Amino acid sequence: MFRKRLTECAGQIQTHFDRTLSKLDSLPVVDAMAHATNGGKRLRGFLVLESARLHGIDPISAIWPATGIEALHAYSLVHDDLPCMDDDDLRRGEPTVHKAWDEATAVLAGDALQTLAFEMVTRVEVGNGDVRADLALSLAKASGVKGMVLGQALDIAAETSAIPLSLEKITTLQQGKTGALIEWSATAGARMAQSDITALSHYSQSLGLAFQIADDILDVEGDAEIVGKATGKDAEAGKATFVSLLGLDEAKRRASELVESASDALSVYGNDAKALREAAAFVITRKN
Ligand code: IPE
Ligand code: IPE
Ligand code: MG
Ligand code: MG
Ligand code: MG
Repeated sequence: MFRKRLTECAGQIQTHFDRTLSKLDSLPVVDAMAHATNGGKRLRGFLVLESARLHGIDPISAIWPATGIEALHAYSLVHDDLPCMDDDDLRRGEPTVHKAWDEATAVLAGDALQTLAFEMVTRVEVGNGDVRADLALSLAKASGVKGMVLGQALDIAAETSAIPLSLEKITTLQQGKTGALIEWSATAGARMAQSDITALSHYSQSLGLAFQIADDILDVEGDAEIVGKATGKDAEAGKATFVSLLGLDEAKRRASELVESASDALSVYGNDAKALREAAAFVITRKN
């Protein structure tokens, strides 16, 4: 049921990207943007579409922020893979943008995907002016120097830190690099409906942490063919993760606990939030 819905959402988002990018001139940077936005699980877009559905928002409106957050996420991946960051050659089973093109194209494609994201969340189709301003402001905060960029900066700094990071510091790092965009995604539907975001915030704070712990576990235990990116790189680079600090077993135990609390946070939505609960279970059982 959940997998079917996730695949359906992924298809809608891909179609939306294809439509948007095919209107642009054929340039290497545009081709690189198409490459970077191709594939992926589309979990963040799914969270937008599902939280919007929960709040009675028309999917014709919700597809814009759903595609927008996937554009922003794709930008973060293109830059994350650069030689000056994680230096990765493979992403979603394909060469990374700087490998398929060059570093300048990867930097520019990332930049353009970031601004495309803001275009998408502020489209007139999305809602009234207040809704669009709220989505743009909250996305700027989630992706900026108090959000994703902060997490990425802490992640890179930890590689050369002489002392291991505390659990508290790793939690801050992961809440930034992964949690902030996941939280934005899950709360977007409530924002569109101008409703209270509290329950979805609590849900997605736990979900985001569980998601990143699973990513760190996949780096150790995953099959690179299935994961679609190189594995075994975090320990080699000296990354600070739950796995590096607590070991695999304790990291798995915490991830399960976080999935429980994510589900519990949805009680106000009752059975209507079934797909979001299943999404929480999915993030720690996924193989890619
Ligand atoms: C990978 O995110 C980067 C992290 C934040 C851990 P995903 O695992 O959601 O990547 P795609 O979009 O499915 O490729
Ligand atoms: C990337 O985290 C997070 C962002 C791109 C913001 P990782 O570096 O752990 O992601 P992967 O493992 O390369 O997908
Ligand atoms: Mg990284
Ligand atoms: Mg990386
Ligand atoms: Mg990783």
